[in-house]
Amino acid sequence: MDKTIRRPQSLSGALAVPGDKSISHRSLILNAIAGGTATITGLSDGGDVRSTAGCLRAMGVSIEPLGEPGSFRVGGRGSQLQEPADMLDAGNSGTSMRLLSGLLAGQDFLAVLTGDGSLRSRPMGRVVQPLQQMGASIMGRQANTLAPLAIRGGSLRSIEYAMPVASAQVKSCLMLAGLAADGPTVLRQPALSRDHTERMMSAMGARIETDDLALTLYPGELNPVDVAVPGDISSAAFWMVAGLIHPNARVTITGVGLNPSRAGIIDALQMMGAGDALRLENRRIEGGEPVADVVASSGSLQGIELGGEIIPIMIDELPVLSVAACFAEGVTTIRDAAELRVKESDRIATTVSELSRMGADIAARDDGMVIRGVGGLAGADVESHQDHRLAMSLAIAGLAAAGDTVIHGAEDAAVSYPVFWEHLDTLAG
Ligand code: S3P
Repeated sequence: MDKTIRRPQSLSGALAVPGDKSISHRSLILNAIAGGTATITGLSDGGDVRSTAGCLRAMGVSIEPLGEPGSFRVGGRGSQLQEPADMLDAGNSGTSMRLLSGLLAGQDFLAVLTGDGSLRSRPMGRVVQPLQQMGASIMGRQANTLAPLAIRGGSLRSIEYAMPVASAQVKSCLMLAGLAADGPTVLRQPALSRDHTERMMSAMGARIETDDLALTLYPGELNPVDVAVPGDISSAAFWMVAGLIHPNARVTITGVGLNPSRAGIIDALQMMGAGDALRLENRRIEGGEPVADVVASSGSLQGIELGGEIIPIMIDELPVLSVAACFAEGVTTIRDAAELRVKESDRIATTVSELSRMGADIAARDDGMVIRGVGGLAGADVESHQDHRLAMSLAIAGLAAAGDTVIHGAEDAAVSYPVFWEHLDTLAG
């Protein structure tokens, strides 16, 4: 599907973005193995979360809609799931494949996990290797590094593991496996990554001890927990940047989750000088997570240097931050972000190629990008590269660029944000 974007006179209004994708996956997976029934509200209706729900249903988990959009009842099966009769399809979702691998490693049956072309090219050795150390039997293509993955789970040994990358998907995979291990699992992280699994498992009665970047999880069963999923900060980030770079904008995004392990984008935009043009209002705690309404209006931004610990806590927002950098004064340098190369697309290569078509002064580095602000962009024909966040970042660029921008592959936005294009029309009037 192609979408044509033209800079509107103004950008204004208020909206609620879909439920947080990371919390949605975890609310389904963890409640699926809990000893009872839980209610989830505000569940993301994106393609990725549907993939997780489909896989769990194929293993006998009941996930029943409750009438209200985003409300579901999950019937936990305790620690024992049912052997699936067919391959499990994780679609485009790295989170589904990696978290479910950890879950399946502790299940006494055979399961095969596959996904779309993008997911089948993403690195799975990072979960296969430690799961094999725990005693799981897993095979995959190309020396067990690529999906499809065939997993025959069973009893697991506890391990102490130094994680080579700061990945919440790897951490969560090993925590799920650790619940079924014969002793405490110790994970050492190189930097903090999103901690939704730690928070939710703790709320479900798991024993987890943290000491700086080390985490110890004890095996055990989970109690069900009701989850009210907050708005996804990764989706809200598109409108934050749109508001800041459009010359006549005031946009409010209500109920955005601001977990500190996710909120790096707010800090980065403040470092760029957003100031009062990016405000947090009505701050509150909902379902154990900090939440606020975010108000973004036209502002002026400066280039910054981004690297180190902030990178994992805003990893998914780097493509849209690159758009902001094109409209900023001066140079923005992003480093320590080599993980971008193994996302839904190689986000360093694809961000550079597509923003270049719009007149950006942007260059790739092995572990990031260097962007010189040019004060604006020009509409062009651009590609999503089967990457939802790239499609939406380019739409935001198009909202502030001169001339028409045509986005090919616009349907990819539905992976995390099915109503993105409707929301864009609402704000653009
Ligand atoms: C996610 C973790 C991140 C992120 C992805 C969702 C999660 O991946 O990029 O979109 O829900 O755990 P990594 O943990 O592999 O960096």
